[in-house]
Amino acid sequence: MRLTRRNLLGAAMAASLAVAAPAFAAKPLTIGFSQVGAESEWRTANTASIKDAARKAGVNLKFADAQQRQENQVKAIRSFIAQRVDVIAFSPVVESGWDTVLREAKAAKIPVILTDRAVKVSDPSLYVSFIGSDFVEEGRRAARWLVEHAKKNPNRSYNIVELQGTVGSAPALDRKAGFAEVIAGNPKLKIIRSQTGDFTRAKGKEVMEAFLKSEGKNINVLYAHNDDMAIGAIQAIEEAGLKPGKDILVVSIDGVRGAFEAMLQGKLNVTVECNPLLGPQLIQTAQAVKAGKPVPKRITVNEGVFPAEVAAKEFPNRKY
Ligand code: AHR
Repeated sequence: MRLTRRNLLGAAMAASLAVAAPAFAAKPLTIGFSQVGAESEWRTANTASIKDAARKAGVNLKFADAQQRQENQVKAIRSFIAQRVDVIAFSPVVESGWDTVLREAKAAKIPVILTDRAVKVSDPSLYVSFIGSDFVEEGRRAARWLVEHAKKNPNRSYNIVELQGTVGSAPALDRKAGFAEVIAGNPKLKIIRSQTGDFTRAKGKEVMEAFLKSEGKNINVLYAHNDDMAIGAIQAIEEAGLKPGKDILVVSIDGVRGAFEAMLQGKLNVTVECNPLLGPQLIQTAQAVKAGKPVPKRITVNEGVFPAEVAAKEFPNRKY
């Protein structure tokens, strides 16, 4: 063939199209994600992390907020199945009651990834991977802090009131169990009242008011399953004329900015970290699953414990 200007231009265009073609052909990965709700500062950070990671990876994310209701999550999962998404991911409000809908996803050959919270199912093949914290260990860490405090203060009493998370949720069940395991057999540490505050500030305040009404100055420690409930309870303690962090020790879980602010004001004694920034791991796992690569059944997250003494130093490094 003669090398004319037109032939050269044609060849160059064909070559560039050949390179560009796969990019045009590749369909973006579509993930259907059902979130628990927007009940806490932790949850807000978790949602932002997932949306941000999806955007950066060019993933088409179909996001549904379940407003803390399992039936809304079941509806969302069924709608994702009907839309034939590539991967379904969700953070289950509660642990049980998922077998039927997850069997439907499996029958439709849509892989399911759990994030943040676990499920109890009869067949573990109903989901491919679970990415999230070890909630039992978080409960143990909170209790270990208290045990150490008790060793250093032998003359102090430790009557504990517990604000539990959402009834039936994995973090509420596991954080209760981990804490109870560590204080068991220690005669100085006793849980005198325990009730759900549904992981929200408003409910944390309301339940703490009731605890204060019935137990008053008999309360020495508040153990809250999350920072938001602790922050609500701190308000109730102050309104009752007591000093949170001093008259009543405050121990909680999450490590959100609000907890650091409370520690800086001397109102909260320790927060055990629960990392909500699960977005990048979720997207990578979904991409691997879609590409047919093996993924670990359980992916855990590294987390620390932040007592009030380190709050000022750590605060500027917090990402949520
Ligand atoms: O599942 C994680 C828990 O859910 C967080 O500790 C809490 O803040 C949230 O609502």
